[in-house]
Amino acid sequence: MSQSLEAKVEPEVVLDWINKIGSDSSSTVPLLQAVQSKYGYLPRVAMDLIIQNSDISGSQVYGVATFYSQFRLKPVGRHMIRICHGTACHVTGADRLDTSLRHILNITDEEQDTAENGSYTIEQVACIGCCSQAPVLVIADEVSGNLTGANAQRALKKHAKKNEEIVANI
Ligand code: FES
Repeated sequence: MSQSLEAKVEPEVVLDWINKIGSDSSSTVPLLQAVQSKYGYLPRVAMDLIIQNSDISGSQVYGVATFYSQFRLKPVGRHMIRICHGTACHVTGADRLDTSLRHILNITDEEQDTAENGSYTIEQVACIGCCSQAPVLVIADEVSGNLTGANAQRALKKHAKKNEEIVANI
């Protein structure tokens, strides 16, 4: 992952959340939600600021951050691609969509889910409620259904062109 994807955290913003939301352990989830909603993930600097300036311990902060799947510990790209891996999508080819989009974004490392240029992050999600159109994915807020690998690539190319993003394998 390129270092440039790391968010620049303003300490005063995090300290302000601690003041407003609270500084005991019951505030751990809302504090982390505030951090993630601003930065798209939980930068380590922000987590350290919470630990140093509240009564919440490091094990509580990291315990909550790693327990709930809503929290991300790695930077995200400028746009999210959510591939549904619910049952209907799984049996109709969600894995093929995943493979196809990873190819076009040149994400070759299994541990990574964000393109090197920071354009897109692929996220696997549970059923998004459009099972009759399975397999389904959501690019930014746009839902596409009844997809094959090829038309998933077309949907991504269309989005990339509209948003002036570079995707590797077009
Ligand atoms: S399983 Fe994918 S939309 Fe329901």
